[in-house]
Amino acid sequence: MSEKARENFGSRFTVIMALAGSAIGLGNIWRFPYMVGEHGGAAFIIIYVLCSLFIALPIFFCESILGKSTGKDTFGALESVAPGTKWKNEGYIALLGSFIIVSYYSVVGGWSVDFLIRSFMNDFKGESLEEAAGVFHNMNASVWEPIVSLTAFLGLTAAIVAIGIEKGIGRFAKVMMPLLFIMIVIIVVRSCTLPGAGKGIEYMLKPDFSKIDGPAIAAALGQGFFSLSLGVGCVLTYSSYMRKEENVFYTGVWTAIFDTFFAILAGFAIMPAVFSAGLEPSAGPSLVYETLPVIFSRMGPLVPIIFFLAILIAAVTSAMSMLEVLVTWLVDQKGLSRKKATTLFFIACWIVGCVCAVSPKVFSICDFMSSNVFMMFGALVFALVVGWKMKKEDVRTQFTNYGTSHKAGAVFSVVWFLIRWIAPIGIVIIAITNVL
Ligand code: PFF
Repeated sequence: MSEKARENFGSRFTVIMALAGSAIGLGNIWRFPYMVGEHGGAAFIIIYVLCSLFIALPIFFCESILGKSTGKDTFGALESVAPGTKWKNEGYIALLGSFIIVSYYSVVGGWSVDFLIRSFMNDFKGESLEEAAGVFHNMNASVWEPIVSLTAFLGLTAAIVAIGIEKGIGRFAKVMMPLLFIMIVIIVVRSCTLPGAGKGIEYMLKPDFSKIDGPAIAAALGQGFFSLSLGVGCVLTYSSYMRKEENVFYTGVWTAIFDTFFAILAGFAIMPAVFSAGLEPSAGPSLVYETLPVIFSRMGPLVPIIFFLAILIAAVTSAMSMLEVLVTWLVDQKGLSRKKATTLFFIACWIVGCVCAVSPKVFSICDFMSSNVFMMFGALVFALVVGWKMKKEDVRTQFTNYGTSHKAGAVFSVVWFLIRWIAPIGIVIIAITNVL
């Protein structure tokens, strides 16, 4: 495909909504609120924001600069800035990372399809918590049910990606992301006004600095990477479809703000409701698919519908970005049509997704490998390539959009230092902490 014919996100709003769509996902809903409560409330939020600001956001800028300046997929971008070197092999790791994440992520996305249908049928009304936990376990014990929902979820994601960047991904994100914010705000209001909700608000906010230790900081950074979709080429790929006049600094900052704001909102949607029901919060599937359906159905039949629809939208917009990494590679490097590329990867991801759906062990290996290995490694490579392979002036030109963004110009020296030193050193320390 020639440079001229490459599609683009039609407007700044669209590209920010697409990037925010990639960032806001299951990570914000079922991981962040629990992590906050576990690791010291507001103290953890402060650490999370610092890690995002000083390590995750600079990596986001690196990916965005690589994508936007070259207008290519991960391989093509790395080959353009470091021709003839081994750096482009990171492209394989990014592809593998995206492929694995989208496969197991679709299993969870599928559960939200299943639970959305159950919510429409008012299935959770009057159920006890034990009965609701039974629903989740029975669903997973049956082989066909998670596979059917996975197929529906992945099918929807692939259909949007197949339509294209602006008309498919861009349009979906532009309409759905504002809707997602409205939905979560409705749940926050309902949840925070329940009797006894104060305890949940306290769980999210009460600062406890004694809980900030090495593992808490590592968790904050790992969550920051997962949440901003870093290290597997998503940001790079979406940025390769930015219009030339777009601003890497501005889109990055807004994506991070929306992402963090949404994660905090999700905490206020979930925790007050959990505490008001007299329960202790847990993380992951058991929180979202065992505890919450019952609690929310007690708040009226519409609440679970809104909640699972919100999860579905958040998950689809994230899955789209991972699938797009794979599709862009096949289109750019192998010359396939977008529709063919999407179909091929739909089939491949579906097969791996089915294995994850029936094997909890494979599921957790994929989860562990993606956030601890692929994303960290990829992020390190992107920081090193931009910080040490590209010329400082070229990076400045891209970051300030040819000198047109004065705000970006004012912070460039700090960002440059973060990219070259703080981000790579931080990643290495955290990776070692995780392994030990
Ligand atoms: N950022 C998404 C979330 O928080 O759920 C997950 C994700 C999307 C991870 C895209 C990695 C990725 F490449």
